[in-house]
Amino acid sequence: MSNNNRKILVTSALPYANGAIHLGHMLEYIQTDIWVRFQKQRGHSCTYVCADDTHGTPIMLKADQLGITPQQLIDQSSEEHQRDFSAFMVGFDNFYSTHSQENREFSSMIYNKLRDAGHIAKKTITQAFDPEKQMFLPDRFVKGDCPKCNEKDQYGDSCEACGATYSPIELKNAYSAISGAKPIEKDSEHYFFKLGDFEDFLRNWVDTHVQEQMKNKLNEWFESGLHDWDISRDAPYWGFEIPDAPGKYFYVWLDAPVGYMASFKNWCDKNDTDFDEYWKADSSTELYHFIGKDIAYFHSLFWPAMLEGAGLRKPNGVYCHGFVTVDGKKMSKSRGTFIMAETYLKHLRPEYLRYYYAAKLNSGIDDIDLNLEDFRLRVNADLVNKVINIASRCAGFIKKKFDGQLSAELSEPALFQAAIDKSEIIAEFYETREYGKAMREIMAIADQANQYIDNAEPWVLAKQEGKEQQVQECCSMGINLFRVICAYLAPVLPQVAEDAQKFLNIENFDWDQIKQPLLNHKINKFKPLMQRVDESNVEAIIEDSKQSMQEMQKTIKEPAKTPLQLEPIAETIEFADFAKVDLRVVKIIQAEHVKGANKLLRLTLDLDGETRNVFAGIKSAYQPEDLVGKHTVMVANLATRTMKFGDSEGMVLAAGPGGEDIWILEPHTGAKAGMRVS
Ligand code: 2FM
Ligand code: ZN
Repeated sequence: MSNNNRKILVTSALPYANGAIHLGHMLEYIQTDIWVRFQKQRGHSCTYVCADDTHGTPIMLKADQLGITPQQLIDQSSEEHQRDFSAFMVGFDNFYSTHSQENREFSSMIYNKLRDAGHIAKKTITQAFDPEKQMFLPDRFVKGDCPKCNEKDQYGDSCEACGATYSPIELKNAYSAISGAKPIEKDSEHYFFKLGDFEDFLRNWVDTHVQEQMKNKLNEWFESGLHDWDISRDAPYWGFEIPDAPGKYFYVWLDAPVGYMASFKNWCDKNDTDFDEYWKADSSTELYHFIGKDIAYFHSLFWPAMLEGAGLRKPNGVYCHGFVTVDGKKMSKSRGTFIMAETYLKHLRPEYLRYYYAAKLNSGIDDIDLNLEDFRLRVNADLVNKVINIASRCAGFIKKKFDGQLSAELSEPALFQAAIDKSEIIAEFYETREYGKAMREIMAIADQANQYIDNAEPWVLAKQEGKEQQVQECCSMGINLFRVICAYLAPVLPQVAEDAQKFLNIENFDWDQIKQPLLNHKINKFKPLMQRVDESNVEAIIEDSKQSMQEMQKTIKEPAKTPLQLEPIAETIEFADFAKVDLRVVKIIQAEHVKGANKLLRLTLDLDGETRNVFAGIKSAYQPEDLVGKHTVMVANLATRTMKFGDSEGMVLAAGPGGEDIWILEPHTGAKAGMRVS
């Protein structure tokens, strides 16, 4: 039995502010929310905080791409994320933002303490730099040919074709995924957190605070050595400036976990709670982080080390879960299994998914498969046919025959007691995140309840004279079992729980109160608490997901695949300046190579009787013989330029990135040499 009056702070990972919430994300929020609701139901003080993770280059660039400010982007995401979470009944006590004053202060405070204690080092490093955008490029924003296998268009950190890992400056034919420009190498001073200073502390801490399966992974990391962690980024960067280093910013992953503290502080201030009681080094409160296994390094090494270095409390547990697959495969946009929370909610109620995830979750880190056929069958079999059915089989008789009044005694006290006796084991399963086991225990009680009703046959008794009391007792027995089952399921099915309370005419499902049966008590009219999941709903989700992905892909601009370097638009000129340019249609009457010139062709142009000699830099794109006879456009009043090969009397108009891709302007065949272009 857990001790009373626990004070617990719980977090889920902070979602990035540049993407929508999908069913992969939802696994974690549902897992955490169930745990939090369970703790509250047990009477503990449990606070669940989260926030959007708002900093970093991808968010800065996405805002740029959308033509809005980062603040506008994060405001928009926050609204959408909170809409989806609340629709899935994820009951955060506070949902905040890492771009907050509290977070700025805590991040600086932690950094200052680490620095003062000698845990920050400065080192000059060489990185890829985009000369056009004037910014350092994160690995993922450099693309090029793999240095090992030459596969084209690989990211700057690893090759998807051969699996090689490397640094972006090793890529061949590298280009910036932002501007297309060829990156240059540039030096800059960076700030590093000396993780190695905390090795002894971390080895001890990890031993007692992470899951067994994670320990092996962490041991590998210890064996390969704890490297200094680069916590700074150069401007332009969307984040917090480092207090004593103008132009340097905290890397997003430094202030992200601090966002847990910031969100909680924000909540404390609104709820008259002592923040320090929770965060002082020797706090007797509890702190748990629920995360995906992909971010364990940050939460099980960097974060506890930062807290230790800053003299703050450490988490009591970092709970990792696996990833979600759909029908046994990675979620896929083309298959329609990359399902957004919003899309799911258009077709099905959230509790189906909450139950399915609960039924499949355990305390480990293995992936969870959302098998859509199994999902539909399981939800219908367990929730609709088994649980809800108990109430629908009994409620009608109580309402009609006994005006809603439950009997004064239970017909099978032992059966009721057996259900109550499961209370501690079910609680233990919730507490240890063995939700699948908890669901199986609860469904076993539901099976017994249905068997009891099958045997008692109230519909037969109801037709017999003198069996009124039996009918009332047997249906009251069913309703009492239904109540216990709903209470056990309440962390998973909050809406069903609320509706069941209305039907049962009770105030709550407090864990200890359900041990007392409901007798001589008047219940309300029963309304069906849940509909079956129909095959067509599931199909509609897949169809919709395919559609919305196609829509999205239309609007997402892929970075240029070839190094297309568009020059910035030159300074504005007045119309009067432009009007000075005399553009004329001309006919190319002769074209030839120029000895010693790599790029130029010599063109002889007919300007309505007048002949001009012009050198044009189009050799890489045209054979001279293909040009003869074509019409094009020239600047006819350009001052003659004397070149190595002779005089150039004007200029031919052409456009394109270079190489074979240069095109001379070709007016419609109806155009005649000498016509003015207007
Ligand atoms: O991996 C992610 O999605 C991160 N945004 C999680 C951050 S969790 C915490 F550290 F803030
Ligand atoms: Zn490769």
